Amino acid sequence: MDIQDIKNRFGIIGNSPLLNRAIDIARQVAPTDMSVLITGESGSGKEVFSQIIHHMSARKHGSFIAVNCGAIPEGTIDSELFGHEKGSFTGAHEARKGYFEVANGGTIFLDEVAELPLGTQARLLRVLESGEYLRVGSSKVQKTDVRIIAATNVDVYDRVKSGKFREDLYYRLNTVPLRIPSLNERKEDIYLLFRKFSADFSDKYRSPGIQLEPEAIQILTNYSWPGNVRQLKNIAEQICVLEKDRNVNGTEILKYIPNESAANNLPMTVSGNSKEDFSERDILYKVLFDMKKDMMELKKLVAEIMQSGGNTAHIIADNPQYINQLYQEVDLNPQSESTFTIKQPVIHHPNDFNYANDIEEVEESLSLVEKESDLIRKALKKHKGKRKFAAQELGISERTLYRKIKELNLS
Ligand SMILES: Nc1ncnc2c1ncn2[C@@H]1O[C@H](COP(=O)(O)OP(=O)(O)O)[C@@H](O)[C@H]1O
Ligand SMILES: [Mg+2]
Repeated sequence: MDIQDIKNRFGIIGNSPLLNRAIDIARQVAPTDMSVLITGESGSGKEVFSQIIHHMSARKHGSFIAVNCGAIPEGTIDSELFGHEKGSFTGAHEARKGYFEVANGGTIFLDEVAELPLGTQARLLRVLESGEYLRVGSSKVQKTDVRIIAATNVDVYDRVKSGKFREDLYYRLNTVPLRIPSLNERKEDIYLLFRKFSADFSDKYRSPGIQLEPEAIQILTNYSWPGNVRQLKNIAEQICVLEKDRNVNGTEILKYIPNESAANNLPMTVSGNSKEDFSERDILYKVLFDMKKDMMELKKLVAEIMQSGGNTAHIIADNPQYINQLYQEVDLNPQSESTFTIKQPVIHHPNDFNYANDIEEVEESLSLVEKESDLIRKALKKHKGKRKFAAQELGISERTLYRKIKELNLS
Protein backbone atom coordinates (compact mmCIF):
# COMPACT_ATOMS: atom_id res chain seq x y z
CA MET A 1 0.00 0.00 0.00
CA ASP A 2 1.45 3.39 -0.79
CA ILE A 3 1.30 6.40 1.48
CA GLN A 4 -1.72 7.94 -0.23
CA ASP A 5 -3.68 4.68 0.13
CA ILE A 6 -2.89 4.62 3.82
CA LYS A 7 -4.10 8.20 4.18
CA ASN A 8 -7.35 7.38 2.41
CA ARG A 9 -7.95 4.25 4.37
CA PHE A 10 -7.31 5.78 7.79
CA GLY A 11 -8.63 9.28 7.13
CA ILE A 12 -5.23 10.90 7.55
CA ILE A 13 -5.13 14.43 6.19
CA GLY A 14 -1.94 16.32 5.39
CA ASN A 15 0.88 16.25 2.95
CA SER A 16 3.86 17.68 4.81
CA PRO A 17 7.19 15.84 4.53
CA LEU A 18 7.30 15.13 8.29
CA LEU A 19 3.84 13.56 8.25
CA ASN A 20 4.62 11.49 5.16
CA ARG A 21 7.81 10.31 6.79
CA ALA A 22 5.91 9.20 9.91
CA ILE A 23 3.40 7.28 7.77
CA ASP A 24 6.26 5.64 5.93
CA ILE A 25 7.87 4.46 9.15
CA ALA A 26 4.53 3.17 10.44
CA ARG A 27 4.03 1.25 7.21
CA GLN A 28 7.45 -0.36 7.42
CA VAL A 29 7.29 -1.30 11.06
CA ALA A 30 3.66 -2.51 11.02
CA PRO A 31 4.24 -6.09 9.73
CA THR A 32 7.11 -6.71 12.16
CA ASP A 33 6.38 -7.54 15.78
CA MET A 34 8.64 -4.82 17.10
CA SER A 35 7.60 -2.53 19.91
CA VAL A 36 7.06 1.05 18.84
CA LEU A 37 7.33 4.16 20.98
CA ILE A 38 5.24 6.95 19.49
CA THR A 39 6.15 10.44 20.65
CA GLY A 40 4.35 13.66 19.90
CA GLU A 41 2.36 16.44 21.48
CA SER A 42 -1.12 15.87 22.79
CA GLY A 43 -3.68 15.70 19.98
CA SER A 44 -1.10 15.22 17.22
CA GLY A 45 -2.38 11.79 16.16
CA LYS A 46 -0.46 9.23 18.23
CA GLU A 47 -3.48 7.02 18.78
CA VAL A 48 -4.41 7.14 15.10
CA PHE A 49 -0.90 5.95 14.23
CA SER A 50 -1.10 3.11 16.74
CA GLN A 51 -4.22 1.92 14.94
CA ILE A 52 -2.56 2.16 11.54
CA ILE A 53 0.24 -0.06 12.81
CA HIS A 54 -2.15 -2.60 14.29
CA HIS A 55 -4.42 -2.76 11.24
CA MET A 56 -1.50 -3.16 8.87
CA SER A 57 0.05 -5.98 10.89
CA ALA A 58 -0.56 -9.72 10.88
CA ARG A 59 -2.43 -9.15 14.15
CA LYS A 60 -5.20 -7.14 12.53
CA HIS A 61 -7.79 -9.83 13.29
CA GLY A 62 -6.74 -9.90 16.94
CA SER A 63 -7.89 -7.36 19.52
CA PHE A 64 -6.57 -3.85 19.78
CA ILE A 65 -6.81 -2.49 23.32
CA ALA A 66 -5.95 1.12 24.13
CA VAL A 67 -4.98 1.74 27.75
CA ASN A 68 -4.48 5.22 29.14
CA CYS A 69 -1.80 4.58 31.74
CA GLY A 70 -2.16 8.09 33.14
CA ALA A 71 -5.84 7.65 33.93
CA ILE A 72 -5.75 4.38 35.87
CA PRO A 73 -5.01 4.64 39.60
CA GLU A 74 -1.76 3.02 40.67
CA GLY A 75 -3.66 0.64 42.92
CA THR A 76 -5.62 -0.98 40.10
CA ILE A 77 -3.33 -0.83 37.09
CA ASP A 78 -1.64 -4.21 37.65
CA SER A 79 -5.00 -5.89 37.94
CA GLU A 80 -6.29 -4.14 34.81
CA LEU A 81 -3.28 -5.18 32.77
CA PHE A 82 -2.57 -8.63 34.15
CA GLY A 83 -5.86 -9.66 35.75
CA HIS A 84 -6.38 -10.90 39.29
CA GLU A 85 -7.58 -13.90 41.24
CA LYS A 86 -10.75 -13.83 43.29
CA GLY A 87 -10.07 -12.38 46.74
CA SER A 88 -6.64 -11.04 45.91
CA PHE A 89 -7.59 -7.61 47.31
CA THR A 90 -10.58 -5.85 48.85
CA GLY A 91 -13.20 -5.64 46.14
CA ALA A 92 -11.87 -8.56 44.08
CA HIS A 93 -15.11 -10.53 44.33
CA GLU A 94 -14.47 -12.32 41.08
CA ALA A 95 -11.40 -13.33 39.16
CA ARG A 96 -10.82 -11.02 36.25
CA LYS A 97 -8.96 -11.34 32.98
CA GLY A 98 -6.35 -8.68 32.33
CA TYR A 99 -5.76 -6.90 29.03
CA PHE A 100 -2.71 -9.06 28.35
CA GLU A 101 -4.91 -12.12 28.44
CA VAL A 102 -7.75 -10.59 26.42
CA ALA A 103 -5.40 -9.16 23.78
CA ASN A 104 -3.52 -12.43 23.28
CA GLY A 105 -2.65 -12.48 19.58
CA GLY A 106 -3.38 -8.76 19.26
CA THR A 107 -1.97 -5.37 20.17
CA ILE A 108 -2.02 -3.26 23.32
CA PHE A 109 -1.62 0.49 22.98
CA LEU A 110 -0.14 1.97 26.16
CA ASP A 111 -0.92 5.66 26.04
CA GLU A 112 0.95 8.00 28.43
CA VAL A 113 3.35 5.16 29.14
CA ALA A 114 5.65 7.41 31.20
CA GLU A 115 3.00 7.43 33.92
CA LEU A 116 3.31 3.70 34.64
CA PRO A 117 4.36 3.01 38.24
CA LEU A 118 7.76 1.34 38.66
CA GLY A 119 6.25 -1.94 39.86
CA THR A 120 4.11 -2.20 36.76
CA GLN A 121 7.11 -1.33 34.61
CA ALA A 122 8.91 -4.41 35.97
CA ARG A 123 5.94 -6.64 35.12
CA LEU A 124 5.71 -5.09 31.67
CA LEU A 125 9.39 -5.68 30.97
CA ARG A 126 8.98 -9.33 31.88
CA VAL A 127 6.02 -9.81 29.58
CA LEU A 128 7.86 -8.05 26.76
CA GLU A 129 10.93 -10.21 27.15
CA SER A 130 9.40 -13.61 27.79
CA GLY A 131 5.66 -13.29 27.19
CA GLU A 132 5.22 -14.30 30.83
CA TYR A 133 3.19 -12.62 33.53
CA LEU A 134 1.40 -13.36 36.79
CA ARG A 135 -2.14 -12.42 37.66
CA VAL A 136 -2.37 -10.32 40.82
CA GLY A 137 -2.69 -12.74 43.72
CA SER A 138 -1.43 -15.74 41.79
CA SER A 139 1.95 -17.40 41.40
CA LYS A 140 1.01 -19.39 38.32
CA VAL A 141 2.96 -18.15 35.30
CA GLN A 142 0.72 -17.22 32.34
CA LYS A 143 1.80 -16.87 28.74
CA THR A 144 0.65 -14.33 26.20
CA ASP A 145 1.59 -13.05 22.77
CA VAL A 146 0.92 -9.33 22.60
CA ARG A 147 2.52 -6.56 20.62
CA ILE A 148 3.09 -3.31 22.48
CA ILE A 149 2.75 0.12 20.98
CA ALA A 150 3.44 2.82 23.55
CA ALA A 151 2.93 6.57 23.33
CA THR A 152 4.04 9.56 25.30
CA ASN A 153 3.92 13.34 25.12
CA VAL A 154 6.73 13.77 27.64
CA ASP A 155 10.40 12.96 27.26
CA VAL A 156 10.62 9.45 28.70
CA TYR A 157 14.38 9.63 28.80
CA ASP A 158 14.05 12.53 31.26
CA ARG A 159 12.07 10.15 33.46
CA VAL A 160 14.84 7.57 33.10
CA LYS A 161 17.37 10.11 34.32
CA SER A 162 15.26 11.02 37.33
CA GLY A 163 14.75 7.37 38.26
CA LYS A 164 11.04 7.29 37.45
CA PHE A 165 11.28 5.08 34.40
CA ARG A 166 13.32 1.90 34.00
CA GLU A 167 16.12 2.31 31.51
CA ASP A 168 15.90 -1.32 30.32
CA LEU A 169 12.17 -0.91 29.65
CA TYR A 170 12.79 2.36 27.84
CA TYR A 171 15.16 0.69 25.37
CA ARG A 172 12.84 -2.30 25.01
CA LEU A 173 9.85 -0.10 24.14
CA ASN A 174 11.82 2.26 21.99
CA THR A 175 12.94 -0.41 19.51
CA VAL A 176 11.44 1.76 16.80
CA PRO A 177 10.88 5.43 17.64
CA LEU A 178 8.09 7.13 15.74
CA ARG A 179 7.68 10.88 16.13
CA ILE A 180 4.42 12.50 15.09
CA PRO A 181 5.01 16.12 14.07
CA SER A 182 3.02 18.81 15.84
CA LEU A 183 0.72 21.03 13.79
CA ASN A 184 3.24 23.79 14.30
CA GLU A 185 5.80 21.81 12.34
CA ARG A 186 3.44 21.24 9.45
CA LYS A 187 1.61 24.49 9.03
CA GLU A 188 0.91 23.67 5.40
CA ASP A 189 -1.51 20.99 6.62
CA ILE A 190 -3.60 23.26 8.84
CA TYR A 191 -5.94 24.62 6.19
CA LEU A 192 -6.27 21.20 4.54
CA LEU A 193 -7.35 19.73 7.87
CA PHE A 194 -9.74 22.58 8.54
CA ARG A 195 -11.42 22.14 5.16
CA LYS A 196 -11.87 18.43 5.70
CA PHE A 197 -13.21 18.80 9.23
CA SER A 198 -15.58 21.66 8.41
CA ALA A 199 -16.94 19.72 5.42
CA ASP A 200 -17.51 16.67 7.63
CA PHE A 201 -19.24 18.70 10.33
CA SER A 202 -21.40 20.55 7.80
CA ASP A 203 -22.55 17.13 6.61
CA LYS A 204 -23.14 15.91 10.11
CA TYR A 205 -25.14 18.95 11.23
CA ARG A 206 -26.73 19.47 7.80
CA SER A 207 -25.52 23.07 7.81
CA PRO A 208 -24.22 25.03 4.80
CA GLY A 209 -20.49 24.79 4.09
CA ILE A 210 -17.95 27.17 5.64
CA GLN A 211 -15.73 29.36 3.46
CA LEU A 212 -12.68 31.08 4.92
CA GLU A 213 -11.51 34.42 3.60
CA PRO A 214 -7.73 34.79 3.03
CA GLU A 215 -7.23 36.74 6.26
CA ALA A 216 -9.02 34.00 8.23
CA ILE A 217 -6.80 31.32 6.65
CA GLN A 218 -3.76 33.30 7.66
CA ILE A 219 -4.92 33.63 11.27
CA LEU A 220 -5.68 29.91 11.39
CA THR A 221 -2.25 29.07 10.01
CA ASN A 222 -0.34 31.41 12.31
CA TYR A 223 -1.97 30.18 15.49
CA SER A 224 0.25 27.89 17.60
CA TRP A 225 -2.27 25.02 18.11
CA PRO A 226 -1.13 23.69 21.50
CA GLY A 227 -3.87 21.05 21.27
CA ASN A 228 -2.88 20.13 17.72
CA VAL A 229 -5.29 18.29 15.40
CA ARG A 230 -7.74 17.58 18.21
CA GLN A 231 -8.05 21.30 18.95
CA LEU A 232 -8.35 22.18 15.28
CA LYS A 233 -11.14 19.66 14.89
CA ASN A 234 -13.00 21.12 17.88
CA ILE A 235 -12.71 24.64 16.56
CA ALA A 236 -13.92 23.56 13.12
CA GLU A 237 -16.95 21.98 14.83
CA GLN A 238 -17.69 25.13 16.84
CA ILE A 239 -17.53 27.30 13.76
CA CYS A 240 -19.83 24.93 11.87
CA VAL A 241 -22.40 25.02 14.64
CA LEU A 242 -22.16 28.59 15.90
CA GLU A 243 -21.20 30.82 13.00
CA LYS A 244 -24.16 32.47 11.32
CA ASP A 245 -22.13 33.97 8.51
CA ARG A 246 -20.85 30.98 6.50
CA ASN A 247 -18.27 33.21 4.82
CA VAL A 248 -15.83 33.63 7.68
CA ASN A 249 -13.47 36.61 7.74
CA GLY A 250 -10.55 37.45 10.04
CA THR A 251 -12.59 39.16 12.77
CA GLU A 252 -15.07 36.32 12.87
CA ILE A 253 -12.52 33.54 13.13
CA LEU A 254 -10.76 35.32 15.99
CA LYS A 255 -13.83 34.69 18.14
CA TYR A 256 -12.99 30.99 18.08
CA ILE A 257 -9.24 31.10 18.44
CA PRO A 258 -7.77 31.68 21.90
CA ASN A 259 -5.98 35.01 21.92
CA GLU A 260 -2.34 34.12 22.45
CA SER A 261 -0.74 37.51 23.04
CA ALA A 262 -3.48 38.55 25.43
CA ALA A 263 -3.17 35.25 27.26
CA ASN A 264 0.58 35.57 27.56
CA ASN A 265 0.97 39.23 28.43
CA LEU A 266 -2.21 40.30 30.15
CA PRO A 267 -3.80 37.28 31.74
CA MET A 268 -6.37 39.32 33.66
CA THR A 269 -7.70 41.48 30.85
CA VAL A 270 -10.83 40.49 29.06
CA SER A 271 -11.14 42.27 25.76
CA GLY A 272 -14.13 44.57 26.13
CA ASN A 273 -16.60 43.79 23.40
CA SER A 274 -15.73 40.22 22.45
CA LYS A 275 -17.82 39.13 25.41
CA GLU A 276 -20.88 40.93 24.13
CA ASP A 277 -20.41 39.38 20.72
CA PHE A 278 -21.80 36.21 22.16
CA SER A 279 -25.54 36.12 22.34
CA GLU A 280 -27.43 34.08 24.88
CA ARG A 281 -28.15 31.59 22.17
CA ASP A 282 -24.42 31.06 21.60
CA ILE A 283 -23.89 30.48 25.27
CA LEU A 284 -26.75 28.03 25.30
CA TYR A 285 -25.09 26.13 22.46
CA LYS A 286 -21.92 26.09 24.48
CA VAL A 287 -23.75 24.66 27.50
CA LEU A 288 -25.30 22.01 25.27
CA PHE A 289 -21.89 21.17 23.92
CA ASP A 290 -20.52 20.76 27.42
CA MET A 291 -23.43 18.53 28.35
CA LYS A 292 -22.84 16.39 25.30
CA LYS A 293 -19.20 16.09 26.23
CA ASP A 294 -20.08 15.11 29.81
CA MET A 295 -22.45 12.49 28.45
CA MET A 296 -19.77 11.05 26.22
CA GLU A 297 -17.35 10.89 29.11
CA LEU A 298 -19.94 9.20 31.29
CA LYS A 299 -20.69 6.71 28.54
CA LYS A 300 -17.01 5.98 28.22
CA LEU A 301 -16.67 5.51 31.96
CA VAL A 302 -19.65 3.17 32.14
CA ALA A 303 -18.29 1.17 29.20
CA GLU A 304 -14.93 0.90 30.94
CA ILE A 305 -16.52 -0.22 34.18
CA MET A 306 -18.60 -2.81 32.35
CA GLN A 307 -15.56 -4.01 30.47
CA SER A 308 -13.67 -4.47 33.68
CA GLY A 309 -16.44 -6.76 34.89
CA GLY A 310 -17.81 -4.18 37.29
CA ASN A 311 -14.51 -4.12 39.07
CA THR A 312 -14.04 -0.42 39.40
CA ALA A 313 -17.54 -0.03 40.74
CA HIS A 314 -16.79 -2.54 43.47
CA ILE A 315 -13.59 -0.81 44.32
CA ILE A 316 -15.35 2.51 44.77
CA ALA A 317 -18.39 1.01 46.49
CA ASP A 318 -16.26 -0.97 48.92
CA ASN A 319 -14.13 1.94 49.95
CA PRO A 320 -16.45 4.89 50.41
CA GLN A 321 -14.66 6.12 53.52
CA TYR A 322 -11.32 5.96 51.85
CA ILE A 323 -12.53 7.92 48.87
CA ASN A 324 -14.32 10.47 51.06
CA GLN A 325 -11.30 10.87 53.22
CA LEU A 326 -9.07 11.42 50.26
CA TYR A 327 -11.25 14.28 49.20
CA GLN A 328 -11.63 15.72 52.68
CA GLU A 329 -7.94 15.76 53.27
CA VAL A 330 -7.48 17.59 50.07
CA ASP A 331 -9.91 20.25 51.20
CA LEU A 332 -8.67 20.54 54.73
CA ASN A 333 -5.01 20.98 53.94
CA PRO A 334 -4.86 23.63 51.30
CA GLN A 335 -1.44 24.74 52.49
CA SER A 336 0.19 21.33 52.58
CA GLU A 337 2.29 19.85 49.85
CA SER A 338 -0.24 17.10 49.35
CA THR A 339 -2.78 19.51 47.97
CA PHE A 340 -4.52 18.01 44.97
CA THR A 341 -6.42 20.46 42.90
CA ILE A 342 -9.94 19.26 42.41
CA LYS A 343 -11.14 21.09 39.39
CA GLN A 344 -14.50 22.73 39.72
CA PRO A 345 -16.49 22.92 36.54
CA VAL A 346 -15.55 26.32 35.16
CA ILE A 347 -17.68 28.28 32.75
CA HIS A 348 -15.14 29.27 30.18
CA HIS A 349 -15.28 32.37 28.14
CA PRO A 350 -16.36 31.08 24.72
CA ASN A 351 -12.96 32.07 23.34
CA ASP A 352 -11.31 29.68 25.76
CA PHE A 353 -13.57 26.85 24.78
CA ASN A 354 -11.21 24.00 24.16
CA TYR A 355 -11.92 20.31 24.61
CA ALA A 356 -8.26 19.40 24.64
CA ASN A 357 -7.67 21.31 27.88
CA ASP A 358 -10.76 19.92 29.51
CA ILE A 359 -9.75 16.38 28.77
CA GLU A 360 -6.33 16.97 30.20
CA GLU A 361 -7.90 18.13 33.48
CA VAL A 362 -9.98 15.01 33.81
CA GLU A 363 -7.03 12.76 33.23
CA GLU A 364 -4.99 14.71 35.74
CA SER A 365 -7.47 14.26 38.58
CA LEU A 366 -7.92 10.56 37.85
CA SER A 367 -4.33 9.82 38.76
CA LEU A 368 -4.87 11.09 42.30
CA VAL A 369 -3.82 7.82 43.86
CA GLU A 370 -0.68 7.70 41.81
CA LYS A 371 0.26 11.28 42.68
CA GLU A 372 -0.45 10.55 46.29
CA SER A 373 1.83 7.51 46.37
CA ASP A 374 4.45 9.56 44.66
CA LEU A 375 4.31 12.35 47.22
CA ILE A 376 4.31 9.93 50.12
CA ARG A 377 7.36 8.16 48.74
CA LYS A 378 9.14 11.44 48.25
CA ALA A 379 8.33 12.62 51.75
CA LEU A 380 9.50 9.33 53.25
CA LYS A 381 12.69 9.45 51.28
CA LYS A 382 13.38 13.04 52.24
CA HIS A 383 12.96 12.21 55.92
CA LYS A 384 14.89 8.96 55.63
CA GLY A 385 11.86 6.82 56.39
CA LYS A 386 10.90 8.75 59.55
CA ARG A 387 7.13 8.64 59.30
CA LYS A 388 6.52 11.31 61.91
CA PHE A 389 8.38 13.96 59.95
CA ALA A 390 7.11 12.74 56.60
CA ALA A 391 3.54 13.05 57.91
CA GLN A 392 4.25 16.58 59.13
CA GLU A 393 5.59 17.57 55.76
CA LEU A 394 2.59 16.06 54.00
CA GLY A 395 0.21 17.84 56.39
CA ILE A 396 -1.53 14.64 57.48
CA SER A 397 -1.54 12.78 60.77
CA GLU A 398 0.96 10.02 61.40
CA ARG A 399 -1.90 7.58 61.74
CA THR A 400 -3.29 8.53 58.33
CA LEU A 401 0.15 8.10 56.84
CA TYR A 402 0.41 4.59 58.32
CA ARG A 403 -2.93 3.69 56.88
CA LYS A 404 -2.06 5.07 53.47
CA ILE A 405 1.27 3.28 53.36
CA LYS A 406 -0.63 0.08 53.97
CA GLU A 407 -3.43 0.81 51.54
CA LEU A 408 -1.17 1.94 48.77
CA ASN A 409 1.28 -0.87 49.37
CA LEU A 410 4.19 1.45 49.82
CA SER A 411 6.32 -0.31 52.40
N1 LIG B 1 -3.40 13.64 10.20
C1 LIG B 1 -4.65 13.60 10.66
N2 LIG B 1 -5.70 13.72 9.82
C2 LIG B 1 -6.97 13.71 10.26
N3 LIG B 1 -7.31 13.58 11.54
C3 LIG B 1 -6.33 13.44 12.44
C4 LIG B 1 -4.96 13.44 12.06
N4 LIG B 1 -4.20 13.30 13.16
C5 LIG B 1 -5.06 13.24 14.19
N5 LIG B 1 -6.34 13.31 13.79
C6 LIG B 1 -7.53 13.36 14.64
O1 LIG B 1 -7.21 14.21 15.73
C7 LIG B 1 -7.73 13.71 16.94
C8 LIG B 1 -6.63 13.48 17.93
O2 LIG B 1 -5.82 12.41 17.51
P1 LIG B 1 -5.20 11.34 18.54
O3 LIG B 1 -4.60 10.24 17.76
O4 LIG B 1 -6.20 10.97 19.58
O5 LIG B 1 -4.05 12.24 19.20
P2 LIG B 1 -3.06 11.90 20.41
O6 LIG B 1 -3.21 10.43 20.71
O7 LIG B 1 -1.70 12.25 19.92
O8 LIG B 1 -3.49 12.77 21.56
C9 LIG B 1 -8.50 12.47 16.58
O9 LIG B 1 -9.85 12.83 16.39
C10 LIG B 1 -7.88 12.04 15.26
O10 LIG B 1 -8.79 11.31 14.48
MG1 LIG C 1 -4.32 10.47 22.88
